[in-house]
Amino acid sequence: MNKPFSAACERNRDPLLTVLQQVITQKDERLLEIGAGTGQHAVYFAAQFPWLDWHPTDVTANLAGISMWISESKLRNVIKPVRLDVKTDDFPKLRFDLVFTANTFHIMSWKDCKSCMKLMGNRLREGSRAIIYGPFKYNGEFTSESNAAFDLALKESDPASGIRAFEDVNKAMEKNGFQLVEDFKMPAHNRALVYRRLRFVG
Ligand SMILES: C[S@@+](CC[C@H](N)C(=O)[O-])C[C@H]1O[C@@H](n2cnc3c(N)ncnc32)[C@H](O)[C@@H]1O
Repeated sequence: MNKPFSAACERNRDPLLTVLQQVITQKDERLLEIGAGTGQHAVYFAAQFPWLDWHPTDVTANLAGISMWISESKLRNVIKPVRLDVKTDDFPKLRFDLVFTANTFHIMSWKDCKSCMKLMGNRLREGSRAIIYGPFKYNGEFTSESNAAFDLALKESDPASGIRAFEDVNKAMEKNGFQLVEDFKMPAHNRALVYRRLRFVG
């Protein structure tokens, strides 16, 4: 098997790093990544936050590729990837200070996005943060023509996929106990939504 590679990850990693540097603190110990994809983000970011254990997860098919990036990196703070399919409750039984998920919400069905947000709400404690990166619609409008075309292409290959409305995501996050802290405008008409868990709803 060849090591998987995503050109988009190379493009967006530095702008995303700038966001993570504003969100991750020296007190944070553990971050869960949902839908880690190739594993490129995991090794790039973990190298920048050596005190933080970075836990990449994804569906089973992607775990071998993520492991290839991790073993090549020789980093000690990227943990062996485990399966987390938001359709099921695979959330590792650990306490996480942060959850990071990039470019997943337009791939997952809306039902799965809601499951993902519910999992975050059930498992993150007060003060924990969730960072959701990707393209979003605002007030029913795409933020660019390229995003409108991307949405069409996504729906052609999977009618359940598509660019989500910020308002729907925000409402679901609030329902699960999170408050929006920052909505960062990112290159290529993407956003990085940063949430803070307000209270524990067991
Ligand atoms: C476009 S890729 C993004 C990968 C990576 N985060 C990045 O930014 O390059 C979408 C990711 O979402 C993951 N994904 C899709 N459905 C999922 C599910 N039900 N549970 C967990 N991950 C899922 C895919 O396996 C894939 O890794």
